[in-house]
Amino acid sequence: MGLLDRLFGGRQGAASVRVLPADLSFDVPPKQTILQAALDQGIAYPHSCRVGSCGTCKTRLVEGEVRELTDKSYLLTDEEMRAGVILACQSVPKGPVVLENDRLSLGGPRHDVIAARASIAALDRMTPDIMRLSVTLDAPLAYTAGQYAELARPGDEARQFSFIDPPSGPAATTARFFIRHVPGGAVTSWLFEAARPGDTLDLRGPFGDFWLRPGTAPIVAIAGGSGLGPVKAVLEQARADRVPRDAILIFGVRTRADLYALDEISLLTRSWISRFTFVPVLSAEPAGSDWSGARGFVHEHLAALGVALAGHQAYLCGPPVMIDAALPVLRAAGIAAADIHYDAFTDRSTGAIAAA
Ligand code: FES
Repeated sequence: MGLLDRLFGGRQGAASVRVLPADLSFDVPPKQTILQAALDQGIAYPHSCRVGSCGTCKTRLVEGEVRELTDKSYLLTDEEMRAGVILACQSVPKGPVVLENDRLSLGGPRHDVIAARASIAALDRMTPDIMRLSVTLDAPLAYTAGQYAELARPGDEARQFSFIDPPSGPAATTARFFIRHVPGGAVTSWLFEAARPGDTLDLRGPFGDFWLRPGTAPIVAIAGGSGLGPVKAVLEQARADRVPRDAILIFGVRTRADLYALDEISLLTRSWISRFTFVPVLSAEPAGSDWSGARGFVHEHLAALGVALAGHQAYLCGPPVMIDAALPVLRAAGIAAADIHYDAFTDRSTGAIAAA
């Protein structure tokens, strides 16, 4: 082994990374961030925004040095700074590093990241600002329910969208996504305003660490706006696997007109093998309407459930404002941090800002 290999790990110029306690190792090519390299190698490294703003990729640097691309101090507490916490999405190793990240689990999905041409099969309007995009792929894709793919118009900037169904098999050649219209947003504006069946997109994936963890704990699933997609996929996979766990699905949107996929949720409710409770929560339904269901924000409904949620495993997907409000409520209800899993849809990372 040459000097560079000894200094920087296996591949020449690449830095070796070891992550504890899972004891997972991978190489980071020159100039790449730890997160990017992990995702490119199919590792479900915990992350969300990828741009240094959410903190989901917080990782402790145990040994070695990194170059940090952005100032992390506004995101980390003094204690985290002193403990050597870094953001994996903003850190480029200067050499071999040892990291610690409790949320990285060896049991997570690890699929080959592929590039495929995705041909639009159908575009179906679900609500005034959410559409369902169905594509056929020219290469087989393996993914786990809850993960996402990057979509881009050929030669253009990519955005990230979650698969809304469990994979149709170990090598799927079709995929569907819920797309929320972001005016002026790359990909979404084109899909809403100009795309037609037969048009093509470049797809790259799968990515993401949102997936159903094993266990026997009841599930509380919380979706906001277009965040219903990966939550639905995870629950449908659990139903297909006949997972015998009680589940509550809380779906937050603004008004009744923003509710969608209700037939599929109704099927989940009827075919789940344990108890399944569905609670749509409307935050801006006109006061005089005949809506007799829950009103308000998702976190308010969670607060009303209170300690009834203790011992649940929580899965959240939706806008950061919903997740930020829900997390402390879930913790106060007695759900351990290790049992809370979430995927925040931010505008830069997903092109889909939900407004539940
Ligand atoms: S801060 Fe790194 S993924 Fe959001």
